[in-house]
Amino acid sequence: MHTVGVIGLGNIAAMYSTPDNAAPYCHVGGVRHSKHVRLDCVCDLSKEVTQKFRDRWGSSFPELHYAESVDAMLAARRPDIVAVCVRGPHHFAVTTQVLNHANPPRAIFLEKPPTCSLQEMDQLLALSKSKRIPIVVSYSRHWSPKVMRMKELIDQGLIGKVQRVVGYVHNTFLSFASHTTDQVCQFAGYCPTAVFARGVVPKAEVPPGFEPEPEMRSMVIEMANGVTAIQSGDGEYGGFYVDVFGDKGYARAGIYLPPYARDKEGKAIDLNALGFPPEISVFTVAYDQIARHLDGGPPPDCCDDQWAIVHEIGCAGIESVHTGNRITLPNRARTRKVFANG
Ligand SMILES: NC(=O)c1ccc[n+]([C@@H]2O[C@H](COP(=O)([O-])OP(=O)(O)OC[C@H]3O[C@@H](n4cnc5c(N)ncnc54)[C@H](O)[C@@H]3O)[C@@H](O)[C@H]2O)c1
Repeated sequence: MHTVGVIGLGNIAAMYSTPDNAAPYCHVGGVRHSKHVRLDCVCDLSKEVTQKFRDRWGSSFPELHYAESVDAMLAARRPDIVAVCVRGPHHFAVTTQVLNHANPPRAIFLEKPPTCSLQEMDQLLALSKSKRIPIVVSYSRHWSPKVMRMKELIDQGLIGKVQRVVGYVHNTFLSFASHTTDQVCQFAGYCPTAVFARGVVPKAEVPPGFEPEPEMRSMVIEMANGVTAIQSGDGEYGGFYVDVFGDKGYARAGIYLPPYARDKEGKAIDLNALGFPPEISVFTVAYDQIARHLDGGPPPDCCDDQWAIVHEIGCAGIESVHTGNRITLPNRARTRKVFANG
């Protein structure tokens, strides 16, 4: 059983779900349902937020250690996995602090968006490699069991060779749309070579040193494997799903949709016969993958180079909106820093 410490006790850490949710969409709820990890310690700078957390989750975790700061938590407990659940503009500082701590964890589970600039990403990746502490980024919808099963079936040839993947979502490139950018890569491959995007730069007030975060309207991602990858605004079924077109059929996968596939002749494929798992918390699935890795298993999904590719695409999309150009990867403009406050 690996121990988990959570930094920041807001929405995604704890407040999007309650202890009675069967498939909670939050870190502590997902950890609670896992047989491989156990919540050991938490911290938040706000006493009010900590009290709200205690009121909701306190009785579910009676042995939990509460700390008032990152340093105090790590000095007292040294959890195996640290989840960084503060807002985007604080990710770089807090994750660096965790990596450099005298009592570091063995792995970090960092909420998206991983950083506000590519320069920060490069520094974080270099530090995590030198410390040998992997970082997994929480593109959380990736771990939906039915989405993962569909990916497995497609890899086994369900719809033939994948030729085109279209992902649907609107809104900010890094704070929001990045979930679907990851999902597009999940099905099209993590092998982008260039990005062309259209979007809008809002006239928002942002702190000094930051630019407003643009919103995506559409994005074309050129892939080295020849798959055409497209991200657009909401689709027929809303957001957070992909259409996958193969040379022998079509499939649709998303966390909020029933899985669907049809063959070359347009006939629906009986997916029930192919064994789709029940939905459980995506956070349970993610933490279990991280735990397995700590026990010597393969790297978890959305780890190191994989999340870096997704972030590289999002930042190139932003660059493309500003310049009107197609951006070849790796993007040379690495210092643009957006206020990705999701
Ligand atoms: N995966 C998802 O689907 C999903 C959904 C929502 C939010 N998120 C991401 O989760 C992150 C947090 O978003 P949120 O809506 O939960 O934020 P939030 O504002 O609800 O919570 C953040 C908490 O972090 C605390 N905090 C800030 N700095 C701290 C520090 N140095 N040490 C300890 N605590 C600190 C704040 O007091 C606050 O309570 C963001 O990056 C966001 O993009 C992900």
